[in-house]
Amino acid sequence: MFLSPRWISLFTSLLVSSITTGFLSFVPEVNLAMLFIAAIGSFFSTFFFTFYIIDLLVFKEVNQIYASIQKLKIRDFDISRKTLLKSVNPLKKLNREISNYVSKKQEEIDELKRMEIFRREFLADVSHELKTPIFAAQGFVHTLIDGALEDPVIAERFLKKAAKSLDGLDILVRDLVVLSQVETGDIKMIFGAFDILELVKEIFEQLENKANKRNTTLVYKPKDLRACWVYGDKQRLSQVLINLIDNAIKYGRDNGKVVVELNTENKKVEIVIEDNGPGIPQEQLPRIFERFYKVDKSRTREVGGTGLGLAIVKHILNAHDSTINVTSKIDKGTRFTFHLAKPPKEIA
Ligand SMILES: Nc1ncnc2c1ncn2[C@@H]1O[C@H](COP(=O)(O)OP(=O)(O)OP(=O)(O)O)[C@@H](O)[C@H]1O
Ligand SMILES: [Mg+2]
Repeated sequence: MFLSPRWISLFTSLLVSSITTGFLSFVPEVNLAMLFIAAIGSFFSTFFFTFYIIDLLVFKEVNQIYASIQKLKIRDFDISRKTLLKSVNPLKKLNREISNYVSKKQEEIDELKRMEIFRREFLADVSHELKTPIFAAQGFVHTLIDGALEDPVIAERFLKKAAKSLDGLDILVRDLVVLSQVETGDIKMIFGAFDILELVKEIFEQLENKANKRNTTLVYKPKDLRACWVYGDKQRLSQVLINLIDNAIKYGRDNGKVVVELNTENKKVEIVIEDNGPGIPQEQLPRIFERFYKVDKSRTREVGGTGLGLAIVKHILNAHDSTINVTSKIDKGTRFTFHLAKPPKEIA
C-alpha cells in the first residue's frame, strides 16, 4: 500500500517541504508566515507534480497495455482493470498475469502441435493399412481379367487371395469404427453379470485351430475353478479376451503355452493372460497400446495384425473403470493383467 502513487507523492512532498522549510528557518529574515507559505507551497507543488509523473509514466502505460490486451479479446486474461489499477505494483502484477497467460497459451500450442502430429501419423497409418489389402486385391482381380480366368486352378487361387485381402480390409474398417466409437463414447456398453470362465472356454474353442497350428497349449487357472462371475459388457469383454489370447498365440512361440488366470479378490476379479513367448522390449511396453503400434514389424506382417487390437482393449477396459497392465521379460514371456468388478449382490 505504501508504494501506491498517492503515498509516494505524500512522502516525497513531505520530505521536500520539510527540507525547504528546515533550510529557510536558518535564514534570519524569514518569519513564521513565510515559512508556513514555503512549507505549504512546496508540499502541494511536489505532491501534484510527483503524482502526475507517476500517473503519467506508470498508470497511463498500464492502462494502455490493458487496452491493447482487451483489443486482442483475450478471454483467458482474467484480471480486471480496476483490480490492476488498485494494486500496489500494477506493472509487476500485469507482468505476472501476462507471463501466466503466455505459459498457458504455450501449453495449448504444444498440445495442438502434438495433436497435429498425431493426426498426421494416424492418417498416414490408416492410408497405409488400407492401401495394402486394396492393392493386393486389385492386383489379383486384374491378373484374373488379364487372362488368369482361363485356368480354373489359378483363377480359384487368385480369387481366394483377393477374398482374403478384402476380408482383412473388412476387419480393419470394423476395428477403426469400433475404435472411433469407443473413443468418442458413442458406443453403448450393455452391463450385466456373466461367467467369465465360460467365456474363456468359448474363446479357447474359437482359437483352437490357430493354437494347434503353432502347437500352443491353451489353459486356464485355477484348474478346479467351476465358475467366475463378473460384471460388464460381455460382448466387448469377449473382444478384449480374444485380442489378448490371439496376441499371445500369434506373438508367442511355437510349442508355447498361453495361460488365462482368474483370481477372485475381495470385490474384484483379477484376469491375467500370460504367454511364454519372446516378450516385448521394456522401452516399447508403454507404446503397444497406441493405435497401429507394432513391436516386431516383420513378425506382425507375417501374422497379419494391424496394431489396433490393444488400443481397442484399452478403451473397452477404461469404459469398465479398469486399466490394463503389462509386464514382459525377453525370452521369458508377456503378462497382461486387468481387473473386473464382481456382480452387485442383488444381481448375483
Ligand atoms: N503377447 C505378446 N507378445 C509379444 N508381443 C506382443 C504381444 N501382444 C502384443 N504384442 C505386440 O504389440 C503389438 C500391438 O498389438 P495389437 O493387438 O494392438 O496389434 P496386432 O495384434 O498386431 O493387430 P490386431 O490386434 O489389430 O489384429 C503387436 O503388433 C505385437 O508386436
Ligand atoms: Mg492383436
